[in-house]
Amino acid sequence: MYFNKIPPAANFQNQPAEAPEKQRTSTLTTLGEGLFRYTIRAPQWQQKSQANLDEDIFKPDSCGARITADSKSGLLLKLNNQTLLRSFAGREFGILGQKWAMSFEYNTSMRFYGLGEKNDRLEKTGGIYKFWNTDTIGDFGTTRVRTEPTDPMYVSIPYVLITQESGCVGILINNPHATFMNLAAKENIANLLDAKDNEQQTIHIGAYDGTPDIYFIIGDSPRSVTRKLQRLCGTTPLPPLWSLGYQQCRWGYRDLDDLEALDRKFDELEIPCDGLWLDIDYMDAYKVFTVVDDGFKGHRARIQALKANGRRIIPIIDPGVKYCTGYSTFEDGRNKDIFCKTAEGGIYSGFVWPGRTAFPDYSQEKARTWWAEQLQNYTLDYLFDGYWLDMNDPSTGSAELEDMRFNNGQDDHSSFHNQYAYGMQQASRRGLTAAIGQKRPFILSRSGFISSSRYSAIWTGDNWSNYFHLKASINMSLNLSLSGLPFNGPDVPGFEGDATPELAVDWFKAGFLFPFFRNHSAANTRQQEPWAFEDPYRQVIIHYIRLRYKLLPYLYNLFICHTESGDPILRPLFYEFTDTAGRLDTIEDQFMIGPSIMQAPIVNENESERSIALPTCNWFDAGSGQWIENKRQIQAITNIESTPLFIRDGAILAMRPGELTKQCSDLSNIECHIFISEHNTKTVTWDYRFDDGETINAPQAHVRLQFSQQGDNTLHVNCQQLSLGAQDLHIHFVTYHNYHSICLQHKDDIISIPSKEHSLNLTGQKLAAYRSPSYTLTATSIQPRPDQAIAFTN
Ligand code: NOJ
Repeated sequence: MYFNKIPPAANFQNQPAEAPEKQRTSTLTTLGEGLFRYTIRAPQWQQKSQANLDEDIFKPDSCGARITADSKSGLLLKLNNQTLLRSFAGREFGILGQKWAMSFEYNTSMRFYGLGEKNDRLEKTGGIYKFWNTDTIGDFGTTRVRTEPTDPMYVSIPYVLITQESGCVGILINNPHATFMNLAAKENIANLLDAKDNEQQTIHIGAYDGTPDIYFIIGDSPRSVTRKLQRLCGTTPLPPLWSLGYQQCRWGYRDLDDLEALDRKFDELEIPCDGLWLDIDYMDAYKVFTVVDDGFKGHRARIQALKANGRRIIPIIDPGVKYCTGYSTFEDGRNKDIFCKTAEGGIYSGFVWPGRTAFPDYSQEKARTWWAEQLQNYTLDYLFDGYWLDMNDPSTGSAELEDMRFNNGQDDHSSFHNQYAYGMQQASRRGLTAAIGQKRPFILSRSGFISSSRYSAIWTGDNWSNYFHLKASINMSLNLSLSGLPFNGPDVPGFEGDATPELAVDWFKAGFLFPFFRNHSAANTRQQEPWAFEDPYRQVIIHYIRLRYKLLPYLYNLFICHTESGDPILRPLFYEFTDTAGRLDTIEDQFMIGPSIMQAPIVNENESERSIALPTCNWFDAGSGQWIENKRQIQAITNIESTPLFIRDGAILAMRPGELTKQCSDLSNIECHIFISEHNTKTVTWDYRFDDGETINAPQAHVRLQFSQQGDNTLHVNCQQLSLGAQDLHIHFVTYHNYHSICLQHKDDIISIPSKEHSLNLTGQKLAAYRSPSYTLTATSIQPRPDQAIAFTN
């Protein structure tokens, strides 16, 4: 019913939004700062959304944004008197049974992004999309999933970002039913032919049911709209530092023996790794909240030992509860009446891993509370650190979804379908938090909805070990980042299929700085742990895992900034640069990690050379150690070890000292890498923050330094702010220019120390860098650290 096609505009009967005889009323509310809400209420539609939106935090400030609505011409959206979007004449609002839709005029300067999780191209002009959480392999089959984009996917965020030179508009449909968007598709049977008497291209958005409730977000740039969207939907709470480390997973890791073997191997090969994951085989007969007895003997002491070695254990949890008398979780759920029902009032059955399965009805508070309690007790017993929520689309095997009803059988399936995973995320986060107290919870989920960011990270589901999916993973993660779900990442180097060593290396290089970084593979595929690949591939994979750990202070600071500004971690080039001449709007094989690092990985099989667009500024080439000045395009040649990676002029990157062979949570001992090109005379301000990386509301230390290079070949570093509390910060300066000295000043303390040359390997090539001895910054002063003054290590 809900597959592949969407209702075309032609079938809707157009009506004024206000239709008194139908008791329909439309309301346009100005929420401030360019945010507007447009709602049409009528008895035929129910308002069921539970998305957690913060509309009260927007200040009454127009920012030059205006929307007018009138019964003749519909909606008109303007920024500084320039029209950004207007209703399509005569089609501003239409109905088709329970369905409703709105149409807007399209013009060719528009570009479309966002749409949550979609595995086609980055820019979406001409696309037709549906939002209906779907287990892609289950519904499309492996042949299609392997090499083609599939729509819909697991996560539904009915949101589109429309960019134009005059400004940007975000449109968010807050509706839990299936929703759809046609972004100026050419309507004909193949969407390909240019039929002369074609329907005019329009932007056509709507839902299959549910109250029309739409947020319009107006801003002057993708950044400004994304920040507002993120404030509305909720930013990702600061995650535990360990969840930003490398995660090792495989369908097949079954018990503590498996995890202990992994633990030893990571230590032996000196590969840092924070997370060890358990897939479904760790459960007794796939019954949730159980374990296979023989695999967990003496579990508490053994799990404690793994933790003491810096590992975190994250098991999979599916929503489906085995339908089985004598299984206490099922019996308790049935007694408490928390399962989804059929229209006749029986418990709805699906068929998932354990066979016949009942599903908690997360639309009900009593079911969320019940689930949270199960998860809390389980955590207290097994000391797990986080949870991996799978199959929560929900996936029901051979059983029809429509028969699964909510709210004690009263509400039809579609009224909650897209929020099923969202309810599970909320309940799981609550249960985990109750068990671990002041520690930050971590939840990873396959499916999700608007504002899922408040509760869970997302991985992009079942991909394949091939170059189609490597490329798709970049587009998916970028668009998720523009849609309010910044904490995301794919299975690296692909879940299904056998990863060739070349693909594995290419994928590790492309993905090693993604917000979430997990190696996961399906049962019956080749092993994918770093050591499953021969040298030299193995060494290269290990290098990039270690490099992520070296850059973790930078990544962690991006997550801190996200909680304040809403900026995502991964960004398309046009997010950072307004460089229309270079056509950054469709570049999908280059991306930014925060404001400072640009990657341009190899994403095609057997390729070792590629062209790279350089948005207007000077770039430091981390492969050659050279500055590239005033070039818009370059050709890069790579080898097995290297990957094209560039650092923006004026960037200051916090890294850990040396090469990281073991995970560690200390963020108070860093190298401060300074990338200021020779002719850059601007003063650069840099903020660095850190905390214990694990406690909710941990006191946060903050330093603000200003860097300027003057004619005396000295780098002047001025300490503007030191809010370090009881913490000290140990800091080395690393420059890529041989300054005569670095002069560090804070109030009356002035220390000037020459740096020493040392070599460094960022992206597979040895680079010349100059590293200062260590300074200790305390709450009030700066001291050189005599003990380490001449300890130069890479
Ligand atoms: C489907 C998930 O997407 C995949 O990651 C997992 O390994 C399997 N279920 C088995 O649990």
